[in-house]
Amino acid sequence: MSRSSWSVLKTLLPYVWNNGWRLRLRLVTAVVLVFCGIALNIITPLLFGYAVKSMSSQHVSVLVPLIIGGYGIFWTIGAVIVQVKDAIIFRVLERAVRRLSLDLFDHLHTLSLKFHLSIKTGAVLSAINRAQNALPELFWAMGLYVIPTVIELFSAGIVFGRLYGWTYAAMLVSASLAYCVYILLAVEKSTTYQRTFNDVHNKTSAWIVESLSNFETVKYFSSHRYEHALCDKLLENRERAASRRWIFSFVGVYGGGGLVMGISLFLFTLFLAYKVVWGDLDIGGFVAIHTYFTQSLDSLANNFPYMVRKIREGFVDMEYVFDLMSISPEVIDRPMALPVVKKSPTIEFRNVSFAYEEQRKVLHDISFELPAGQTLAIVGSTGSGKSTIARLLFRFYDVSSGAVFIDGEDVRNIKQDSLRASIGILPQDVTLFDMSIYDNIVYGHQDATEQDVENAVRFAHLKDFITSLPDGYQTMVGTRGLALSGGEKQRIALARVFLKKPQIYIFDEPTSALDAYTQREISHNLRVLSEDLTTLIIAHRLTTVAHADRIIVLDKGKILEQGSHSQLLSQDGYYAFLWKQQQSEA
Ligand SMILES: Nc1ncnc2c1ncn2[C@@H]1O[C@H](COP(=O)(O)OP(=O)(O)O)[C@@H](O)[C@H]1O
Ligand SMILES: [Mg+2]
Repeated sequence: MSRSSWSVLKTLLPYVWNNGWRLRLRLVTAVVLVFCGIALNIITPLLFGYAVKSMSSQHVSVLVPLIIGGYGIFWTIGAVIVQVKDAIIFRVLERAVRRLSLDLFDHLHTLSLKFHLSIKTGAVLSAINRAQNALPELFWAMGLYVIPTVIELFSAGIVFGRLYGWTYAAMLVSASLAYCVYILLAVEKSTTYQRTFNDVHNKTSAWIVESLSNFETVKYFSSHRYEHALCDKLLENRERAASRRWIFSFVGVYGGGGLVMGISLFLFTLFLAYKVVWGDLDIGGFVAIHTYFTQSLDSLANNFPYMVRKIREGFVDMEYVFDLMSISPEVIDRPMALPVVKKSPTIEFRNVSFAYEEQRKVLHDISFELPAGQTLAIVGSTGSGKSTIARLLFRFYDVSSGAVFIDGEDVRNIKQDSLRASIGILPQDVTLFDMSIYDNIVYGHQDATEQDVENAVRFAHLKDFITSLPDGYQTMVGTRGLALSGGEKQRIALARVFLKKPQIYIFDEPTSALDAYTQREISHNLRVLSEDLTTLIIAHRLTTVAHADRIIVLDKGKILEQGSHSQLLSQDGYYAFLWKQQQSEA
């Protein structure tokens, strides 16, 4: 077992053990049953040998039926115990799976947006699924089979040695050990194939999810054949990797194991036969010793390779999950992080520069102030960095240099939870949960009253739309909201953020998907809503922001101009140019 396997075990043990006294009792019971099983496995063949001996002696003992009866009972109890202990322990292991999955889920939620944009959901999902299967199998195989088998082997050796002689015991133990060592080595080798298979399998799952979630684009470009071919190629790799894994595990592990076992059995039987011929051993002894030997090796051959393979695969399957678990969040709370931002705070960006990737700076030395209760608008061409400013304020990312302040406090000193609770953001790209419209609106505010929801819906101009739907509020929005138009999604998100009643608003192109009429109505509502709340509004269409207290014109990550609408017009710069252009278009 490699060192990393130990650390995997160490991390997993608390999940199995710390589950309250009931589950702990189950665990202990299972372990006790394991030892009963070992004892029975050792006693049963002894009884059998004894019975054979009694029958073959001159005076057949009256005890024979009793001995055979005992043999039958012990054998049966042994067989039942195996199943009972499995049944008892699975509840414990499934609880461990549940807790591990939940921890992983929570952990993934603490990781940065950067991480989430970089992973493939399909790959993560299939890795989690495999880990969910691997955890119980790992403990089951190890705790109930492999470790007991090794204990049984040595106990059997001792009993055997005392009863029949240490030569036989040494032969039994060394034959078993040779077999075990071979299996361990072969399984270790076969995990290379397992790892390759896992990689290919993760890639394949990730691609399938990717392709299906781009269903519409696939249709737009009639590229089903192309997708088919790509998927086929990946599945072909998967098939090859899987076959290689199977071949190695069947031929290498089981086939080779059978060979090692066969040779041991042959040598041992030959040795016993000589003992009989030389008169050192009677027939009863021959049968008992031989039965013992074959039974021990049989149970080893039946369980050991399968279990060791399960364990090794289990560790490999857990690896990816542990890799995920060990990724630390990039955006973290400082130890002394402060809570809550007060109502309607000031916001300041001071010499902020930022790059998503090192080579390409997206914001250059941005400085501006947004006084309490005022509205600041950011305008500029697409890609100029407007949404990035919103993401930095929300602290999806930390600045590369400079700082962002809320009420004079660096956002890095504010608890993320309370920072995010105080900001209501209408993102540029709205995604919805595949739930009803109602559930999407109250998301985050499940305790909202009907009146609250009504108000939010009226605010977002959704009333007519919702009443026009046969299922009204209960209409399902489809995966990521695909069953709605862009404008409908945007307005649902608006209703949702209205319910949040935050201290700061960020509207990122809030009316980009709306028609001229709705746009005007909603712009008006936004203005009323943000009347005396600190508000950052990002827009492409300048009419939506003309009312703002201050406007920043952003170009290629730099502030080009700033001032009020009338100031900027009188400066007759880039803003004035854009304004004239947009006026003439309208
Ligand atoms: N997650 C990201 N990783 C790398 N680059 C990004 C990422 N998000 C945005 N960008 C880049 O940053 C620049 C600014 O993006 P953004 O702030 O969204 O622009 P705007 O909102 O003004 O249209 C763009 O050039 C964009 O390609
Ligand atoms: Mg944007």
